[in-house]
Amino acid sequence: MHEKIIILDFGSQTTQLIGRRIRELNTYCEILPYHSFPADDPTVRGVILSGSPYSVNNPDAFRIDTAALRGRYPVLGICYGAQLLAATAGGRVESAATREYGRALLTEVDANDPLLDGIRAGSQVWMSHGDTITRLPDTFRVIARTDNVEAAAFRVDGEQTWGVQFHPEVFHTEGGTRLLDNFLTQCGCTRDWTPASFIESTVAELKAQLGDDRVILALSGGVDSSVTAVLLHRAIGSRLTCIFVDHGLLRKNEFENVLRDYEHLGLNVIGVDAKAKFYRELAGVTDPEQKRKIIGRGFIDVFDEEAHKLHDIRWLGQGTIYPDVIESLSVTGTVIKSHHNVGGLPEKMQLKLVEPLRLLFKDEVRRVGAELGMMPHLLKRHPFPGPGLGIRILGEVTPEKVRILQDADDIYISLLREWGLYDEVWQAGTILLPIRSVGVMGDERTYENTIALRAVTSTDAMTADWAQLPYDFLAKVSNEIINKVKGVNRVVYDISSKPPATIEWE
Ligand code: XMP
Repeated sequence: MHEKIIILDFGSQTTQLIGRRIRELNTYCEILPYHSFPADDPTVRGVILSGSPYSVNNPDAFRIDTAALRGRYPVLGICYGAQLLAATAGGRVESAATREYGRALLTEVDANDPLLDGIRAGSQVWMSHGDTITRLPDTFRVIARTDNVEAAAFRVDGEQTWGVQFHPEVFHTEGGTRLLDNFLTQCGCTRDWTPASFIESTVAELKAQLGDDRVILALSGGVDSSVTAVLLHRAIGSRLTCIFVDHGLLRKNEFENVLRDYEHLGLNVIGVDAKAKFYRELAGVTDPEQKRKIIGRGFIDVFDEEAHKLHDIRWLGQGTIYPDVIESLSVTGTVIKSHHNVGGLPEKMQLKLVEPLRLLFKDEVRRVGAELGMMPHLLKRHPFPGPGLGIRILGEVTPEKVRILQDADDIYISLLREWGLYDEVWQAGTILLPIRSVGVMGDERTYENTIALRAVTSTDAMTADWAQLPYDFLAKVSNEIINKVKGVNRVVYDISSKPPATIEWE
């Protein structure tokens, strides 16, 4: 069992970031709703209390008995967490005269305090608070100040309990990672969490969990399902069967290329060519949601049919990752998204679920994949929607439109790679618009299709900005597409951010 840090989530938007930073410091951590501290877990080494959208003075604020943690474990309160520590020990927290969002500078730092080791006065920190601590309890001592905030950081005498008003987990806090690292040192953490150790312990757990059972898994070509497959394969070898469905809406040559990669990785994979079924069912359908439903249902039908050809399958493998799990536990009650394209399958097929990546962040999934020896191009692949090109062909989907879009997309993605821009963007693709426009080629008037190029920067697809690709690159892509893709005479670039637009057009 890995030693762990528990992060109690009071609903802050940056709670996940705290988790990522701790993991980057090779320490395992779990993010739990504020009220569910695991009392008798011998592997817990320390506790972090997150920020919150609430004021501690709000009657509805999320509260816990901080005295039950203090002294038993090293505790670090961040923002609301710090205010909660102070308020529940007799201090005072009040609405600040001026709310403070963004940059501030530490003016005084107690260099002798181990939490602030290596952090100097003058360092920039990131603030985001409306309340401030106006009186600390008697045993609490200020260890850092800013011009605006008297208790920018405090320590409780005789205890390993600290509070910081700023956010050490965000990029803009200088020395933030150092501070978290110092906290881990105070917790006595040995930093035993690495991709290699994760693989070793997970493979052992999977072997124990699955015994001689057989597992089926749907591969999509994406990072999560691919790493899940390779990890399961490590544990149970050929008792894992993977199904990779070609719904005819993948990128050009994607099915063949990815299938080859999977076989190269030693996976037992069944490739199913179901193009004709999907094209048939999509004929005449123009509504985006209806297209999504047809593609999703069609996928389940094909998967189910293939699974029934196999015997004694007990488990369904899924590439669920930690952000999905945290979201489903969210204390602020956000609705869970149904991300998975195999949603509904476990019930229909009466299978148990096995999700070996459910505790990993996306960047950890990539590092685990690399440690498993997977090819970089498979690990760095952009996200691609389950319904594929079906939602990038606006209006009715036909095989001819798929051909046009695949050719244009292939030119765009290949040039992004050639120009070294592929890894600079979160996601890129082409969209076939349902309009034709007039053009001239040679002496001939044309009346043909328009392709829109989309490329965005993002960290989680929840918000995104259009990528400022160089003009000469866009000129090259436009020229190549118009000259080489029969049926296209115009290319445009989408300069909309999300929100208010979305990444996909449908
Ligand atoms: P939007 O268009 O909502 O997309 O900004 C956010 C991210 O989700 C992907 N996406 C999908 N993925 N099935 C999926 O598996 C879908 O129906 C779907 N719709 C959008 C999109 O590509 C982007 O990464």
